[in-house]
Amino acid sequence: MKQSFIAGKMTEQQQLWDDVDRYVESQLIPHDDVLASIAEHNRQAELPPIEVTDLQGQFLQLLVRMSGSQRILELGTLGGYSTIWMARALPEGGKIVTLELDEYYARTAAANFAYAGVSEQIDLRVGAALEQLQQLEQEGAEPFDFIFIDADKPNNPNYLQWALRLSHPGTIIVGDNVIRQGEVIDRHSSDPRVQGIRSFYELIRDEVRITATALQTVGEKGYDGFLIGIVN
Ligand code: SAH
Ligand code: DHB
Ligand code: MG
Repeated sequence: MKQSFIAGKMTEQQQLWDDVDRYVESQLIPHDDVLASIAEHNRQAELPPIEVTDLQGQFLQLLVRMSGSQRILELGTLGGYSTIWMARALPEGGKIVTLELDEYYARTAAANFAYAGVSEQIDLRVGAALEQLQQLEQEGAEPFDFIFIDADKPNNPNYLQWALRLSHPGTIIVGDNVIRQGEVIDRHSSDPRVQGIRSFYELIRDEVRITATALQTVGEKGYDGFLIGIVN
């Protein structure tokens, strides 16, 4: 996977981040034919190349294992790459509900889940996440142990409110793309994704039920970051 372009131009810095990502990955992430084929499949299927990197997938997997999470909720499936990383961390009987707006992406993800042998653990639901979340609540879904927010960023504040409704004390909340090349500090940004992330931070700041931090990251996906929180 290669996502080395910032504003259409590969910078020297980005080249270094790519090279270091490749080095660290080669040391820490065993080659996996299934994941490699799925990444290739996603490129063939022309999905946008915005899934987590392998190092980030391993990071999610570690968080799931460290928290002993059994019930995971993911917002934004795309081709299911992050879903598969997390599914592989689940104990026997663990489950992931993953929500995706786009039918074509969801079909691609479903094929990938079958190929990775994780379909049984995954409940993939197609439609706008806000509607699917309401549906889940109406079904009386049990609270989730781990919630990964990685869909449309303008809705992050809404997703955070839903995450709280579908959580229990101890639930881990992870948000992707919370730094956005540093644009997150631009209060006047006209990018609704940046404003969505800024409102997300403000809600968390004012929310006594969540303790969180943000990790700035550099690598194949440029300069970005994760928010990691726990429900108190
Ligand atoms: N988690 C994935 C990447 C997700 S990319 C991975 O790392 O492998 C963000 C996804 O959110 C896209 O597939 C996009 O179609 C989806 N999305 C956008 N708006 C949405 C909405 N309103 N409801 C659900 N999914 C949405
Ligand atoms: C974008 C979305 C993501 O979830 C991501 O990890 C990277 C980029 C985007 O919409 O550009
Ligand atoms: Mg993301």
